[in-house]
Amino acid sequence: MRLISGIQRRVNYVLRESETWWRSHPTAIAIKTRLGIPARFHSPARTVLENTIIPYYASQGSHSRMLFVGVDWYTKHYEKLFKHYDAYWTIDPEPTQARWAGKNHIVDFFENLSQYFEPEYFDVIVCNGVLGHGLNDREPVEKAFDVCFSYMRPGGTFVLGWGGSPELLSFPLEESESLRRFTPFEFPPLATSRYSTKPEYQYVFQFFAKSC
Ligand SMILES: C[S@@+](CC[C@H](N)C(=O)[O-])C[C@H]1O[C@@H](n2cnc3c(N)ncnc32)[C@H](O)[C@@H]1O
Repeated sequence: MRLISGIQRRVNYVLRESETWWRSHPTAIAIKTRLGIPARFHSPARTVLENTIIPYYASQGSHSRMLFVGVDWYTKHYEKLFKHYDAYWTIDPEPTQARWAGKNHIVDFFENLSQYFEPEYFDVIVCNGVLGHGLNDREPVEKAFDVCFSYMRPGGTFVLGWGGSPELLSFPLEESESLRRFTPFEFPPLATSRYSTKPEYQYVFQFFAKSC
């Protein structure tokens, strides 16, 4: 009896370890990427992004153009979800991150978007996990939101996902002048323009529209 429960414990341990390995070990991520299997990062915020926000935009008309700001190993498969779009672009200044990007990728800062597109080019811009992860100070943040506004078509929407805590930024986000150019957009699936994952986890998704 003791032998059987010992074996069971060992098997459970091996299964748990292999699941963790397959989920997040760099070799497993490399295998998945090579085989086109989505590599997922599990967090409450990612669940909202992947189960609610992305499906909403992916169900939109095929003539849309999206910009997804900042890439990582767990965002590589997003491009496929928008393959019916006219265009899906990503931008990230870190050259080594380009391996997680799709075919339309720019190695540069979000703030420099104007160098690559015509004004009012995008229908949707998603900037998730970038505030507080490189885009931290007033000047670049204001510049980024300004270009975001100018390079979005009237009626387009801007999704800003970030940790929501003041210490992530060197200034209070509420003071942002460029963000005020947008109108809060009540995102239909969540029935709000500002969704917080609290109390479970501190993360915020803010939705904005560019008025027609
Ligand atoms: C935590 S990852 C977020 C990746 C992805 N956007 C997501 O949904 O999680 C942060 C990425 O933002 C990039 N980044 C930092 N500052 C940036 C900026 N000013 N413009 C565009 N990307 C930036 C970093 O190089 C990094 O790859």
